[in-house]
Order: sequence, then C-alpha cells, then structure tokens
Amino acid sequence: RGKDGFASALLDWYDDHARILPWRVPPGSDERPDPYRVWLSEVMLQQTTVATVRPRFERFLERWPTVSDLAAAPQEDVLSEWAGLGYYARARNLHACAKVVAEQGWPQTEEGLRALPGLGTYTAAAVAAIALAERAVVIDGNVERVVARIFAIERPVRQAGAEVRAGAAALTPAARPGDYAQAMMDLGAGVCRPKRPDCLLCPVRPFCDAAARGLTEELPVRVPK
Ligand code: ADE
Repeated sequence: RGKDGFASALLDWYDDHARILPWRVPPGSDERPDPYRVWLSEVMLQQTTVATVRPRFERFLERWPTVSDLAAAPQEDVLSEWAGLGYYARARNLHACAKVVAEQGWPQTEEGLRALPGLGTYTAAAVAAIALAERAVVIDGNVERVVARIFAIERPVRQAGAEVRAGAAALTPAARPGDYAQAMMDLGAGVCRPKRPDCLLCPVRPFCDAAARGLTEELPVRVPK
C-alpha cells in the first residue's frame, strides 16, 4: 500500500511519545539543537545503550561544555573520561574531530560532516538531520528493521542495502527531518522491536506491508556473516 502520510502519522505520534533525552530539544521545537551535543550523543550511542549514555553524556558536557573546550583538552583526559564507553578509537577520533571543528566551525551540510575525522555515513546523516535540519537519510539498525517491515523486504537486509536505503529515502520527509529521524529510532526501540513488536500501539501500522501479511516476526531477515 502507498506510504503517503507515513511521516506525518509518525511525527504526530512523536509529538506525544518522544523520549525526553538530554541531547534532544522538545518535538516540534523551532530551536535547533547544538551540533556539538548531537554529534557527541550519536558517537556515544553507536556503541552503548541510551541508559548508559545518559549520565555519561551529562558528565562529559559538564567537563567540556563546548567543542573548543574539548579540542583544548589533553588527549589522555578525553580517553580516561571515555572509560567504559568502549572503542577508544572513537574517543581518539572524537578529539581529532573537535580540533578540526574548533578551527573551522561546523560544516553546514551532510557532505561536509562526512569529511570530518571519524564521521561515517550514519553519524553524518544523523547530525545533518537533527542539528542542521537537512533532509538526510538516517539508517541505523532500528531504521533498517522498521523499513524492512514497512516494505516487507524479504531478502536478507545485508544484501538488500540499496532497497533498504531507497525505502528509507522514500519515507523521509522534507519537514522536521530531525524529529523524524529520532521518531524512527524511538519507534524501533519501543514499538517495532526486534522480537514481539507491539503492532497494536504502532502509529504506522496502516502503512506496514509486513503487518498486513503477518510477517512482522519474520522480518528483517538476518543471515550470519
Ligand atoms: N540512538 C542513536 N541516536 C539516538 C537518538 N538521537 N535518540 C535516541 N536513540 C538514539
């Protein structure tokens, strides 16, 4: 079935159900969140759960409130503050990135973000959507699962990367791209869960091909490497 109305149904749900998290602004806010906070949260969340990141994010920001403060910190202090968050390469990249941004300012496009040290496809898209309000296509594991179900993609998602991306792009609205990206994350985390998705509470159930065909538990198909 057609997907017109998917984004507005999701955004209406997000207006009432957004998780309140320290790196977010309230849904529908005209205020743009600080790229430094968005970037830091996305890097921390790549390897660690929301519950763990929350207090560590606040502590990190108290210590280094701006990207220039972080850039000026000794690398060993950044690495020790990162303890327990895993993958020290990320902390090293974080510091390298802070130094570039402290000198040059934040890039104003997804493409510019992508050129910074350590910013991969996902992080650049997430920061562009959330902090720059760019219509960037943000795909993490949650989004991949939601898209695989909405379009009932039956091929293993590892092989269906282009199809997942095309589906994600087709769903992404021009308005409120940051709220939309985070709504997809909240939907994937709380409703469209990997096991036993809560379709009765799902705001986009009418658009879901997997639900229509009774395939939600079967999708996405993951095959071992
Ligand atoms: N996981 C990754 N990025 C996130 C975000 N901005 N909000 C909630 N969970 C996330």
